[in-house]
Amino acid sequence: MIAKIQSVRGMNDILPDEAEFWDQFEETIRSWLKSYGYRPLRLPIVEPTPLFKRAIGEVTDIVEKEMYSFVDSLNGEPLTLRPEGTAGCVRAVIQHNLIAQQPQRLYYLGQMFRHERPQKGRYRQFHQVGVEALGFPGPDIDAEQILMGARLWDDLGLEGITLQLNTLGQPAERACHRAELIRYFEEHKEALDDDGRRRLYTNPLRILDSKNPALHDIIVGAPRLIDHLGVESLAHFEGVQQVLRDAGLPFQINPRLVRGLDYYNLTVYEWLTDRLGAQGTVCAGGRYDGLVQQLGGKPAPACGFAMGVERLLALIREAGGEARAAAIDVYVVHQGSAASRLAARVAEGLRDHGIDVLFHCGGGSFKTQMKKADASGAAFAVIIGDDEANAGEVTLKPMHPLGEQPNEQTRVRVDDLADAIISSILNQEDS
Ligand code: HAM
Repeated sequence: MIAKIQSVRGMNDILPDEAEFWDQFEETIRSWLKSYGYRPLRLPIVEPTPLFKRAIGEVTDIVEKEMYSFVDSLNGEPLTLRPEGTAGCVRAVIQHNLIAQQPQRLYYLGQMFRHERPQKGRYRQFHQVGVEALGFPGPDIDAEQILMGARLWDDLGLEGITLQLNTLGQPAERACHRAELIRYFEEHKEALDDDGRRRLYTNPLRILDSKNPALHDIIVGAPRLIDHLGVESLAHFEGVQQVLRDAGLPFQINPRLVRGLDYYNLTVYEWLTDRLGAQGTVCAGGRYDGLVQQLGGKPAPACGFAMGVERLLALIREAGGEARAAAIDVYVVHQGSAASRLAARVAEGLRDHGIDVLFHCGGGSFKTQMKKADASGAAFAVIIGDDEANAGEVTLKPMHPLGEQPNEQTRVRVDDLADAIISSILNQEDS
């Protein structure tokens, strides 16, 4: 026996039942984004490796150990499968000069790749919807993006998603805080774990994000960034909170919230659920005013967020959301050579009228074909044998009559078939 080839660990196939659920989700997402004036972008999945090193930061988990990087064997160029979308989006905005004239509200949707340990809600290939606004400096857009999230949870019928908010201030304020943090952690060096000691001088802020319970007390006593913020940073933070309070949106300020990517300043936030186990962050983002310049563009403010599609879909299912089965209108059953030729024309003719048709392929008796028609979930079977073909007619059989409608089959002239089906569908919808 030839060995079967399996998909790569942590990279999942999305089969039709599931994929239809994804399609419906994406429809909701696109109309929600449109209602806020966001426009789509389609970006490459592969980017030059230095893009992510520069944007996300050399000393981050993503860049240090999670990127799928390789060298292009033809020209030696270092490339990486995108681990997130913000870097590529900003690269594209700079490359095509998109914010020269006016600010932009943009979004993208697609695969991301991180070499993490797979578990429920955490995959090596996963999907994000990423939302980015470039060229807006004020807290109004940060707040609008947060309110967008709240509206989407509502549109999707999701409850219990809570908001945690923090500010990271500006780089100079962070540098000052960082120096003090290092001094503080040096004083407690013997109590740090290996990760903590390793990060002490490279990324002490990440120690605050440690999940190790043994570090809890040291972390609680650490110097706070908020005490190092200047008037403008505090005003920006207050501005975001004001809009959220005005909108009646509850949130929790979490001073220990630091993100796993280095490009953020000022506002950062995460939307969390406790219904998915350990991987409870369904959406996260914030402001990244330095990134456009850092990637070679003219300085421009920006902020955005991304949500994990797998996690949100798991949550929708958990809340009882089911995919609507993709309904097919007609299954065409046929036997005999004249009948089959007519049937092929009938099927195309119905599609001309916008009717969805499954044309039976592969022959077989009327009985087996009717079983397939039934299993397909089609609303009607159109049956064509030699008898019908000779008369220029077909037999129309409702398969899943709604309400009181009798399950009677009728003979219909080929020319009248589309009208008969459409009026019958409309009647069913009315009753
Ligand atoms: P992130 O927090 O790294 O941010 O990812 C955003 C979301 O993607 C997470 O909250 C989570 O729902 C989902 N996610 C991340 N990793 C995985 C995984 N391995 N498996 C399943 N889902 C995952 C970013 O990527 C930023 N680019 C967000 C952003 C956009 N900030 C500004 N603009």
